[in-house]
Amino acid sequence: MCEEDALSALETGADIIGISNHGGRVLDSTPGVADVLPNIVKAIRNTKKGKKVVITADGGVRTGFDVVKMLALGADHVLTGRPIVREAVPHGAEGVRSLIDYMRSDIEKAMIMTSCNTLEDINSDILYDI
Ligand SMILES: Cc1cc2nc3c(=O)[nH]c(=O)nc-3n(C[C@H](O)[C@H](O)[C@H](O)COP(=O)(O)O)c2cc1C
Repeated sequence: MCEEDALSALETGADIIGISNHGGRVLDSTPGVADVLPNIVKAIRNTKKGKKVVITADGGVRTGFDVVKMLALGADHVLTGRPIVREAVPHGAEGVRSLIDYMRSDIEKAMIMTSCNTLEDINSDILYDI
């Protein structure tokens, strides 16, 4: 959740760095991952070792729109936790499949509306900065 820790992970030789606030459930008033992600990504990518490291983001991702936003903010991969569990426990594989379909459909809608033909086209230019 901070540049210093991400750079330490890089120094230890990490291949993947996960930007995560543990779903916001461990420390009250922890910032959202989307808030800290751009600066951490910038710090990582500004180093030689950090050019190729895989960056994941998770915490509060509930829709495909959230996935696209995290990608636009610099994540290579976006993870979701509790929504999967909430489907898996009562509905099993079918519930998880329908959640993934729902998220994929929102990702496609967001990509059409922002003129992104491929996932690689998603970048911060599609975000509206207030
Ligand atoms: C019940 C529960 C237990 C968790 N335990 C851990 C843990 O032991 N270590 C950890 O790094 N993250 C833990 N997490 C955080 C998840 O790895 C993940 O970051 C989080 O669920 C993503 O946010 P989301 O659930 O809003 O999608 C836990 C999350 C939940 C809901």
